[in-house]
Amino acid sequence: MREDMEDYLYEKIAPYRKERKEKGMEDRKTYQGIFDKRTLLAFYKLLKKGTIDEVEFPISTGKEGDVFRGTGKDGYVAIKVYRITTANYKGLSRFIDGDDRFAHIHKTKDTIIFIWAQKEFRNLRDFRKYGVNVPEPIDKWKNILVMSYVGDENRAAPLMKDIMESLKKDIAYEIIEEMKKMYKAKLVHGDLSEYNILIWNDKPYIIDVAQAVPLDHPLADELMLRDLKNMVRVFKKLGLEMDVRDLAKEIGVS
Ligand SMILES: Nc1ncnc2c1ncn2[C@@H]1O[C@H](COP(=O)(O)OP(=O)(O)OP(=O)(O)O)[C@@H](O)[C@H]1O
Ligand SMILES: [Mg+2]
Repeated sequence: MREDMEDYLYEKIAPYRKERKEKGMEDRKTYQGIFDKRTLLAFYKLLKKGTIDEVEFPISTGKEGDVFRGTGKDGYVAIKVYRITTANYKGLSRFIDGDDRFAHIHKTKDTIIFIWAQKEFRNLRDFRKYGVNVPEPIDKWKNILVMSYVGDENRAAPLMKDIMESLKKDIAYEIIEEMKKMYKAKLVHGDLSEYNILIWNDKPYIIDVAQAVPLDHPLADELMLRDLKNMVRVFKKLGLEMDVRDLAKEIGVS
């Protein structure tokens, strides 16, 4: 990587700066720790373009990727970085094959994760068209997705699973409204649970939508059933008793 590029990234990406400091690596030589080279190049592109102004700190780190808070043109953004090295080609392909929106896309082991990021972007867009309360997709490049940030300057919105005790039954009805809209969008979320719902100002935000598939996809029924079962369990904890059939009927599943 060119030295001026390295210096620029070093300035703009706070966790990268921190990691290097901790390791006593302030010499600014190519560093392969926190982000691999391809990810750094993708950051470079989005930074130069102005989609991202600065990468501040991780909100969440997982085995498939990390989410960072950053700043962009209009304030805070959430930056989801999918890990390139651990991408499971077969696992991800199951959710891409059979989706007409990606029928003509050429996938390889090397590019599958980029398509995955693209798929999350597309799903966010398609959900929003139907008014589903998901983050607004802002931009994407390679394995990086930039979306609107849910939270404020002090903290990111909590996950539903972490604040279950403080929630009232009403939130269940709000989530059912989101489920209705998701169904109208003709997409099945596929990983819906208290782990992928943020709560902010008493409103649910549905996140983590990369795996969502159209209703006519071979996996759609199985995923729909799983989502319904999960939410029946969650609603029960909130004091709302309904079975899978009730819920399916309520959200319009025929
Ligand atoms: N737009 C956002 N605003 C604020 N926080 C977010 C946003 N998107 C994600 N997060 C935080 O980052 C965490 C991880 O995001 P997400 O669920 O999309 O990915 P993931 O769980 O790592 O994906 P996977 O389940 O495939 O590993 C979330 O649990 C949430 O805490
Ligand atoms: Mg998640």
